[in-house]
Amino acid sequence: MSTPVLSLHGVRKSFGPIEIIRGIELDVVPGERHAVIGPNGAGKSTLFHLISGQLTPTAGDILLDGLPIGGMAPHLVNRQGLARSFQITNIFPGLSVFENLRLAVMRRFGLDFVFWRRASRLKAVTHLADELLAQVRLEKRANVLASELSYSEQRSLEIGMTLASDPKVILLDEPMAGMSHEETEYTVGLIREITRGRTLLIVEHDMDVVFSLSDRISVLVYGQIIATGTPAEIRGNLAVREAYLGEEAS
Ligand SMILES: Nc1ncnc2c1ncn2[C@@H]1O[C@H](COP(=O)(O)OP(=O)(O)O)[C@@H](O)[C@H]1O
Ligand SMILES: [Mg+2]
Repeated sequence: MSTPVLSLHGVRKSFGPIEIIRGIELDVVPGERHAVIGPNGAGKSTLFHLISGQLTPTAGDILLDGLPIGGMAPHLVNRQGLARSFQITNIFPGLSVFENLRLAVMRRFGLDFVFWRRASRLKAVTHLADELLAQVRLEKRANVLASELSYSEQRSLEIGMTLASDPKVILLDEPMAGMSHEETEYTVGLIREITRGRTLLIVEHDMDVVFSLSDRISVLVYGQIIATGTPAEIRGNLAVREAYLGEEAS
């Protein structure tokens, strides 16, 4: 197995007296699509918050490309090449699709941009926003207000904004939540495309999606990873079936 791009050792997180994340060991290798599954309340979202910098671990190490990022501010973790999907509230509903993407691109360059000439700056931003527009297949909706997009189109826009930082590692927490079957199929296709050449860590409830999309799966139960393996290995894992998958995998 190649050197992990993302690595967690002994990661713990308590809220007050209650330990929610109880010693996570996880290696995510470059280019893989890795799903985290587990029952409600297992700690999946908390784990993602720890990785993306929204929360600071109580103990343990989180390494991105060998660099410790545990407790680092979210925008700095993002600078190191990790992006998580924005919540819908991060979309500006009163701006068009294109304007939202352009804003995300500008955010990526931040201060660096001050030193560019105005004309070339505008050109570069527009070019990158156009690229993102195509990647998330929203060209025809470029000038539509974000508030007027369908639910799944809004999620596509969110994914586009996530890609603006050109991340190596992408975290998606239940990107298909609330979607119809057709919307889910569409979004899975989109996720496949945009994660080519990148690394994906995804939390998802739909087991059809998990087992078809993932190269490997980790099962989180009560704050601990009880198994990591290929879809076939996870399906065949007795402890996993007892703790979580139940009849779903049979
Ligand atoms: N900020 C917080 N303060 C206190 N408890 C929290 C906080 N965030 C999450 N929890 C608790 O941690 C547990 C795991 O939550 P979460 O990570 O959202 O689970 P999952 O995403 O697997 O459903 C839950 O019992 C939840 O109530
Ligand atoms: Mg969750």
